[in-house]
Amino acid sequence: MVTITDSARQAASALAADQLVALPTETVYGLGGLATSRAAVERIFAVKGRPVDHPVIVHIDGVSSLAHWTASVSPAALALAEAFWPGPLTIVCPRADAVLDQVTGGQPTVALRAPSHPLFVNVLAELSALGIEHPGIAAPSANRFGSVSPTTAQHVIDGLGEYLAAGDLVLDGGPAAVGVESTIVICTDHTARIARAGGITAEQIAGVVALESVAAESVRVPGALASHYSPQARVILLDGVSDLAEIADQIADADRIGLLGLARDLDTVGLDWIQLARPHNSAEYAHDLYAALRTADEIGVSKVIAILPPDEGIGSAVRDRLIRAAH
Ligand code: TXA
Ligand code: MG
Repeated sequence: MVTITDSARQAASALAADQLVALPTETVYGLGGLATSRAAVERIFAVKGRPVDHPVIVHIDGVSSLAHWTASVSPAALALAEAFWPGPLTIVCPRADAVLDQVTGGQPTVALRAPSHPLFVNVLAELSALGIEHPGIAAPSANRFGSVSPTTAQHVIDGLGEYLAAGDLVLDGGPAAVGVESTIVICTDHTARIARAGGITAEQIAGVVALESVAAESVRVPGALASHYSPQARVILLDGVSDLAEIADQIADADRIGLLGLARDLDTVGLDWIQLARPHNSAEYAHDLYAALRTADEIGVSKVIAILPPDEGIGSAVRDRLIRAAH
């Protein structure tokens, strides 16, 4: 039985004892372990069922800890950290020698982010109070590999409860505010390239540094596997309501269909299907997305028809996750 708590101090004590703690962040819940503990990091991979060569993000307390975890910090990386930390931005930098291979997947780089969720911030402060300088918490999203990321403590328990051990904890910080994962920016040379769309938009990043477009083969990012974030139900995508006729043949009369899309699009469709979520804008779409995909499985719809939001702002991250969920 895994214990649920809202105590950052209890969470820090468990982490310091090499236990795992599922932690709230502003994006999604993470499955955390001390990034300097080989035993803890190995358990993260086991509990997630994640391939060992997939690197994990190290969560740190801010810009002042960047140098501790990296071999060098480019001007772009520093500018981005100063602009968007704490917040949903992950920066990939050349790693410091001491960073565990288990964390980096054996790559010469490390992914770093300073989350803004107040409970997470408190956990890092409590670790410092325990004498751990520049604490780092390795934390992938707290779901089994390939399935939908958790945005509540209950989602974590539903997905990982049976895999966690006595002594592990779930720190309940309420529903995640953003709802999709952090934006990943690669800053391993003088350039900055987005490797995963997320909570900080490309427009925001381009306001701080010059962005290069990413060559698909340039970086291995497991979140970039074609199939990911997948519910049991089949996900069918629509890029605008006018495409509805094109998918009519994919929908048998007997199908129980779940609908997901912006309220204005659902109103245009006007069909009598189960509405899984009807967000009013792309930020709400991001916030509701994963819970809606879970609802689809809970109520047992066979197909989810998702109407994509416009490809701008955080809508780009929503589209990215839906396209992977549909693969
Ligand atoms: O919002 C988030 O980023 C959440 C919360 C918990 O912080 N975490 C998250 O972790 O989404 P995960 O493991 O599900 O995705 C981390 C992504 C993976 O796609 C991984 O490949 C990439 O970060 N990544 C980690 N280290 C990397 C590195 N050194 N180089 C390139 N990509 C890296
Ligand atoms: Mg994940």
